[in-house]
Amino acid sequence: MPLLSVRMRASLGGKHVSGAERIVSRDRLEETVSELIRRPREFDEMVITVETLMEVETLDRPLPVRSHTFTTVAEAREFALGTLVESGVPERLAREAIRLLEKGPSPSGGVMRGAVVMDVETGRRLEPDRERGVRTVRIDWEDREKIREEMVKRGFTDRTVDALLIATKNVICGAVAEICWSDDPDYTTGYVASPKLGYVRISPLKERGDPLGGRVYFIKGGDLERFLECVERRAFIVRGSPSFSS
Ligand code: COA
Ligand code: AMP
Repeated sequence: MPLLSVRMRASLGGKHVSGAERIVSRDRLEETVSELIRRPREFDEMVITVETLMEVETLDRPLPVRSHTFTTVAEAREFALGTLVESGVPERLAREAIRLLEKGPSPSGGVMRGAVVMDVETGRRLEPDRERGVRTVRIDWEDREKIREEMVKRGFTDRTVDALLIATKNVICGAVAEICWSDDPDYTTGYVASPKLGYVRISPLKERGDPLGGRVYFIKGGDLERFLECVERRAFIVRGSPSFSS
């Protein structure tokens, strides 16, 4: 039976407020749509997209997960910087990525609708549109409920359940490293991810109340077309659970 990509996005007053996606078989479509439409607390427009996927690749495992908690944002960012450098990002560019997320990475100094893509050798920004950025889509857990239960039991949030998918797909698509913290003023945990170190959850990467955030993907510049095709178009489901360490 072919799998479906089911995506929901909602906005309020023209501002994106909620987005989520699932990859499910046809017989789970109704329950999936029912779940997704309950997610946004407030909205004045909602779009549900259902699309048949011609090909879905299976990954045995997501990136392994580690967590680090610090007393101050400065300490956490210094650790994130070191993690990027250890992953193969030159220190100057690692600092530049953190500075971009701190000041708001869009040309107007606000948040973007997707991620910055930075050439890990030159620091050049490669995303075709600097307000939009690049979005990683078409990835889900084969058994989301089981993984969610395992992760929530260990104290992880729903956000981590989803962000781990994005980070895993980016690595499979060729990212050298990624840094992310949310633009949600109430969510201060972020992460650095890379093939070398896995998914490194870091807290707190910003102060509570700060409305800025975003994602920076580091890639080798020559791989841009293949990377974009992979993160935006190829579909993956992840079968196994992550391994955890601290
Ligand atoms: N942020 C801001 N605007 C968004 C958006 C996002 N994440 N996703 C969609 N939009 C808006 C934009 O205006 C976009 O137009 P653009 O392409 O010019 O930016 C428009 O909706 C259409 O976007 P499209 O990419 O066609 O949407 P889609 O139907 O493929 O759905 C989502 C994409 C919503 C599923 C995806 O963005 C998403 O949110 N995935 C889940 C990510 C997640 O799990 N996050 C939590 C953990 S970090
Ligand atoms: P969030 O963790 O959902 O708050 O997202 C943090 C930032 O990541 C947003 O401000 C966007 O710039 C970017 N972003 C959101 N969704 C995606 C996605 N699917 N792929 C890549 N970047 C995203």
